[in-house]
Amino acid sequence: MSMQGKKGSELFQKAKAVIPYGVNSNFRYWGEEDTLIAARGEGAYIWDADGKRYIDYRLGFGPIILGHSHPTVVKRVQEAIEGGTIFAWTTPYEIELCERITEMCKVDKVRLTNTGTEATMHALRIARAHTGREKFIKFEGQYHGMADYFMYSTASANPAALGSKRSPINVQATSGIPQGISQYVINLPYNDFERLEETIRARWQDIAAIFVEPMLGNAAGVMPKPGYLEKMRELCDKYGIVLVFDEVKTGFRMANGGAQEHFNIQADLVTYAKSLGNGFPIAAIAGKEEVMMTIQPGAMAHGGTYSGNVVGTVAAIATLELLETQPIIETVNKRGKALMAGISEILTEANMPYSLPGVPSMFGIVLGREEEPTDFREYFEGDGDLYEELALELIKRGVQPDGDAREPWFLCAALSEEDVNETLNVFNDALKAAKS
Ligand SMILES: Cc1ncc(COP(=O)(O)O)c(C=O)c1O
Repeated sequence: MSMQGKKGSELFQKAKAVIPYGVNSNFRYWGEEDTLIAARGEGAYIWDADGKRYIDYRLGFGPIILGHSHPTVVKRVQEAIEGGTIFAWTTPYEIELCERITEMCKVDKVRLTNTGTEATMHALRIARAHTGREKFIKFEGQYHGMADYFMYSTASANPAALGSKRSPINVQATSGIPQGISQYVINLPYNDFERLEETIRARWQDIAAIFVEPMLGNAAGVMPKPGYLEKMRELCDKYGIVLVFDEVKTGFRMANGGAQEHFNIQADLVTYAKSLGNGFPIAAIAGKEEVMMTIQPGAMAHGGTYSGNVVGTVAAIATLELLETQPIIETVNKRGKALMAGISEILTEANMPYSLPGVPSMFGIVLGREEEPTDFREYFEGDGDLYEELALELIKRGVQPDGDAREPWFLCAALSEEDVNETLNVFNDALKAAKS
């Protein structure tokens, strides 16, 4: 059965005529009959082109922390843009937003960008310029955006191609990257203390940065083992390496101060996007004074015509104001805990081995395996095909997680107790249908 309704199918055909595969990001393509067309969103719901309502747990891949089209954010942006949108001068809005970020995230300095990719790309340049070194470490299953340097051994990689854990192979995630780029990238399995220490001891003179999603937000929410992030901090201090927390997914979601607050560890640089603007395009690179001040006019470049534009900046000010003055994350966590507990009960009753890695505001569902995965390779020991069936049955019934188990379930503050109960009823039916 196709997930597209009649109108959705017609619009998808029109989309394909002018947009490759009918989507403006490859991740949105779900095949010829299941790629959906959105009409609108409000609160915890979205509607497709045929008017079908979905409780939304994708939230546009994570940005919607408050709820879709939050009235306060929308109103503030509407009012502000009447006075113009970009000036190539600093605006008071930019000052206000960067002040808020420094307070909430305990960072010294901030530069604004528009997307997570722009933020991570610049963070890598800052780290290289700061250390005078060229290589960097990242971890298998982590995604840091679309820049060439990061497109190795991402969550799209075939695990069979990753090689031995002792000497992992960089698996290129896309055509179109010059061969030489791979030499700058060191992929390691996550949560492997020994590999990390050994690699840094042997090669620290070449290593500018460790890039890490503090929890694997692109691989089902795999969590760090106790002490793992602390180990990174210790090694980076010892060997003069820049520790970069990529908080594009965890920022303003795991806690008001993101993963840094949750794990009580300060990185040298942090990248934010998604929840920062509740769905408006805004991102940031932030961090310690001495590292951020590597940016220097005429010497170390960071720029962008739209950096600090009024639309995204004001949306972010309004979002952070709400996060600071209302129990947004508390509400999200409360709903997330109830949802996780309900899902656990259903899966246990169905005698289905499972684990739910992550935190209540963004968690994964790994089926067919009892032990929680600790790295990307272990994640693949779960039953991804069964999850896909389950997701399909959920979506048919109006509950929308991503179709791929690697993408966590995201929750927003607009989600009500009733929505959670409705989701659990649907989950029960969808699981039975998926198993049969
Ligand atoms: C951890 C992480 N970093 C970077 C990015 C790239 O962000 P963007 O899609 O805004 O370029 C993503 C996107 O999902 C992400 O999850």
